[in-house]
Amino acid sequence: MFDPRLIPALALVLAAGGTALADTPRLDAQRMFPSGEIAFQKICARCHTGREDAVGPDLTANDYDPDTIRHFARHGSGPMPAFTESMVDAVTLDQIAAHLASIRKETEE
Ligand code: HEC
Repeated sequence: MFDPRLIPALALVLAAGGTALADTPRLDAQRMFPSGEIAFQKICARCHTGREDAVGPDLTANDYDPDTIRHFARHGSGPMPAFTESMVDAVTLDQIAAHLASIRKETEE
């Protein structure tokens, strides 16, 4: 299973390997995941799928606007850890929200 806590370490290793650091786009300024769906699966799903062992509420069962997703992700809540920009970038958070909205819509139809 992919461990999101490894991302900062990985970013450091990659940055140290770059020769012209000034010309290298910062990793945290880029999208880190190919899609909101994959980001959700990798970062959030283990706590948020409604599985028996999930510790958080099932995020696919409710409507969450992007502001709510951003707020919880950046600040955490109770047992939920906060995610910094270097763990999940802002664009990806919006895509997670869009992904959740899209699967929510499917279940409504
Ligand atoms: C380690 C487990 C864990 C991970 C990983 C996690 N969460 Fe959570 N999350 C929780 C828990 C537990 C709660 C309930 C917090 C509370 O009751 O205060 C929660 C609450 C939330 C809520 C509020 C839900 C509600 O109806 O009150 C949102 C939105 C949310 N998380 C989004 C996310 C997103 C987006 C991610 C991925 C970037 C994520 N979480 C990753 C554990 C997690």
